[in-house]
Amino acid sequence: MVKVITIDGPAGAGKSTVAKAVAERLKFSYLDTGAMYRALTLKAMQNQVDLEDESQLVDLAGKTRIDLEYTSGGVKVLLDGQDVSQDIRSIDVTNNTFYIARAPRVRELMVKWQQAIGAEKSIVTEGRDQGTVVFPQAAYKFYLDADVQERCKRRIEELQAAGKDVDAKKLTEELKQRDQNDLTRSAGPLKKADDACFIDSTYLSVDDVVEKIIAYL
Ligand code: C5P
Repeated sequence: MVKVITIDGPAGAGKSTVAKAVAERLKFSYLDTGAMYRALTLKAMQNQVDLEDESQLVDLAGKTRIDLEYTSGGVKVLLDGQDVSQDIRSIDVTNNTFYIARAPRVRELMVKWQQAIGAEKSIVTEGRDQGTVVFPQAAYKFYLDADVQERCKRRIEELQAAGKDVDAKKLTEELKQRDQNDLTRSAGPLKKADDACFIDSTYLSVDDVVEKIIAYL
């Protein structure tokens, strides 16, 4: 029987790193649902689709194929067969995901795609709505959070390690704005499921969080 473990939480809480590590320990697959929202955002931008027009976004989603391949180096994101793993991490894509994420009919499609993946194999899936909307019956649910200053610091360090120039003040504002958008949209908002285990990672290392999750399981 396939099993689903969900990890939700805001940007920079450490979900991706933790979810990947837990998946590896359990020999489960890892599902990065944010990468799906990012890939569709990139395609909409490339095709100059009006991001405010939900019908156009739904149309575009219907003509789109997103595949996630897991490699030892991370996740390879294929958008209609093209590797867009790097492109979807740009600041413009990051800030524009808001339009895709707030569109209820686009979310419905995303939810179906994600549920189809979870029906096929055991996964550790991370996002904003995994424990609440996509997999309400998941075997185990976690909500990972951290103090906003700490989350910004982690994002800045991550970008700097990737050799990118970072405007710390701007990034902090953008991350706070993204939190606000994720928390307040009506469709699939960022929310802790009632039956999720809450972990505050502010003072914890990635290994500490992984061990906590494994112990809980
Ligand atoms: O997790 P990541 O930062 O890559 O997600 C990018 C954006 O995609 C988030 O800010 C959020 O708006 C959206 N998202 C979402 N639902 C998910 C995963 C991501 O709305 N399950």
